[in-house]
Amino acid sequence: MSRISEKIRYVGVNDLSKVIFEGMWPLPFGVSYNSYLVVDEKVALIDTAEAGFAPEYLDNIRRELCGRKIDYLVINHMEPDHSSLISMIREEYPQVRIVGNAKTVPMIKGYHGIADNIHVVKDGDSISLGESTLTFYMTPMVHWPETMMTYFNEEKTLFSGDAFGTFGAVEGTVLDSGAVLAGRTDSRTDTFEAFRDEMRRYYSNIVGKFGQTVQAALKKLSGLEISRICSTHGPVWEKFIPQVVSCYDRLSRYEAEKGVCIVYGSMYGNTAGAAKALAAELAKRGVPHVLHNLCTENVSYAYRDVFLYDTLAVGSPTYNNDIFPPVGNFMRGVCARLVKNRKFVAFGSYTWAGASVKLLNEMAAGLGFSLISEGLSFPQAFSSEKCDMEALADRICSEVSPC
Ligand SMILES: Cc1cc2nc3c(=O)[nH]c(=O)nc-3n(C[C@H](O)[C@H](O)[C@H](O)COP(=O)(O)O)c2cc1C
Ligand SMILES: [Fe+2]
Ligand SMILES: [Fe+2]
Repeated sequence: MSRISEKIRYVGVNDLSKVIFEGMWPLPFGVSYNSYLVVDEKVALIDTAEAGFAPEYLDNIRRELCGRKIDYLVINHMEPDHSSLISMIREEYPQVRIVGNAKTVPMIKGYHGIADNIHVVKDGDSISLGESTLTFYMTPMVHWPETMMTYFNEEKTLFSGDAFGTFGAVEGTVLDSGAVLAGRTDSRTDTFEAFRDEMRRYYSNIVGKFGQTVQAALKKLSGLEISRICSTHGPVWEKFIPQVVSCYDRLSRYEAEKGVCIVYGSMYGNTAGAAKALAAELAKRGVPHVLHNLCTENVSYAYRDVFLYDTLAVGSPTYNNDIFPPVGNFMRGVCARLVKNRKFVAFGSYTWAGASVKLLNEMAAGLGFSLISEGLSFPQAFSSEKCDMEALADRICSEVSPC
């Protein structure tokens, strides 16, 4: 499990007890906090792990080092899922020199009160560990201001921080060729498919707003030969690098597949009836689609599929002359993620004065989405006479694919 190469050792941990990541995102398959040692004449530790894993994490390090000391602790990212154990590493290895950039420094001070023995690096700077060289590339806002990546020149290995990471604790080997997401024995396959959904959910939930800076990072890294990507979550990528990089490239360009992501909330089933009718009509026509009920399901799955399909259909009843709160929250999240290049339609029930469809359309227009129709706002109960989902499905179908 732990030896990735002669010089690179995996010392990360699996978190199978956390139910909700960042207080918002469910973890049906857990999550891993990956950390790595580069062992040469000098030893570098790349990132740490989440609080609560101190004993297991320290054991992993001790087992690999057999009494040797750590010379450098490279901090690619200060989000506490990776930086929580910095103080503990300093206590255990007091001589360790922390490597970070100018934006890391105040964060280390603020989280840990540490201000000394920090080696500040700039874009393109290197440190030598003996035969091994680590070069640092600044990749700000992927997805925090201090994020940087560390490239191990001689092994063409990129320690990428959260970039290219996925939800899911990794069992068996950490290498992508044999890795399995915890609790998903069916995922032991030779394809990237087993990881794609959770990678998309991780990206869309956490990094989704930063398409432009992810693109800048990909451009910066495009000159590097990369034969291994060691991210901070999920498998170490060797076999699936083309798929992983292409997945990130498409997500950060907001490129989508043809299909419809239907997202709705409903109190009494009327807007739900319309959503299900639309799904049924799309199914009849063979149009790829997914249906997400925000009243019963975490919003992270809806965000995932907003990034998957090129058409977004959103249903909301009118609620206090506004959008129904779970749907409003979802749409604010779509706006915050600066989603682009989508076709859009809104629908929803009201009783005395409809407002939700108009307000949803305004939000979609603010993102530059093209409206498929003016939307379907209908009074009280859903019926096909009041809300013609057949006609809407025909319209979507003619744009999405030949039916
Ligand atoms: C707290 C609350 C506030 C509502 N506010 C409005 C409103 O401002 N305008 C309106 O026309 N209907 C309003 N309604 C009525 C709902 O829009 C209506 O019941 C609708 O059919 C609910 O759709 P659903 O079955 O999909 O939940 C409100 C209902 C509730 C419970
Ligand atoms: Fe992060
Ligand atoms: Fe992370």
